[in-house]
Amino acid sequence: MIRPTGLAVLLSGRGSNFRAIHAAVQKGRIPVPVLAVVSNRADAEGLERASALGVPVFALDDRDFPSRKAHEQELIRVVQEAGADLVILAGYMRRLSPYFVTQFPSRIVNIHPSLLPSFPGVKAQEQALKHGVKISGCTVHLVNEQLDAGPIVLQRVVDVRDDDSVESLSSRILAQEHEAFVEALARLSGGYRVEGRQVVFAMPESSSLG
Ligand code: GRF
Repeated sequence: MIRPTGLAVLLSGRGSNFRAIHAAVQKGRIPVPVLAVVSNRADAEGLERASALGVPVFALDDRDFPSRKAHEQELIRVVQEAGADLVILAGYMRRLSPYFVTQFPSRIVNIHPSLLPSFPGVKAQEQALKHGVKISGCTVHLVNEQLDAGPIVLQRVVDVRDDDSVESLSSRILAQEHEAFVEALARLSGGYRVEGRQVVFAMPESSSLG
């Protein structure tokens, strides 16, 4: 059974998912602290927000490192030194290599703005619109060595409207992302294990709500 005790949030941009997670930690809904926020972009808005909230922040620009591995080694060091044992990808826009993933087996959580396995990779909302699907949503999943393919923790559905633009659909999905990420982390924090593609929670569903 995996029982997380501290979160490290990795992000590249505005950090609205991080803010939702942080607010839920403050309220006690997610019972484990955010110990570090790490970005591969020094000017990420999310980093500034985290710093203002008093969370330790680390800017590790991948362009300052000689190789992907050197960058990831530093990421791993920062996460471990912070004492975090669950890595949260909240809009982290750089793919992590198998080297990184194997350091944190079943302990990396990502959010993706589509109903996986549909539309993995970048521009998921645009892919969904172009395909003409009538529902989309978001997926919280554990990260394995394949892109957007690990065991699913939780999904939320969003209707696609006839007049949707990428922006309007993205913004409705984002609202669901914030709730889904909080609920997923609340449940994972109670303990979980992975059986094949199933994430099995220690807590029954009802006890994590509220
Ligand atoms: C979200 O749509 C997330 O699903 C995707 O990147 C976006 C990050 O948004 N991976 P934010 O930085 O949390 O506001």
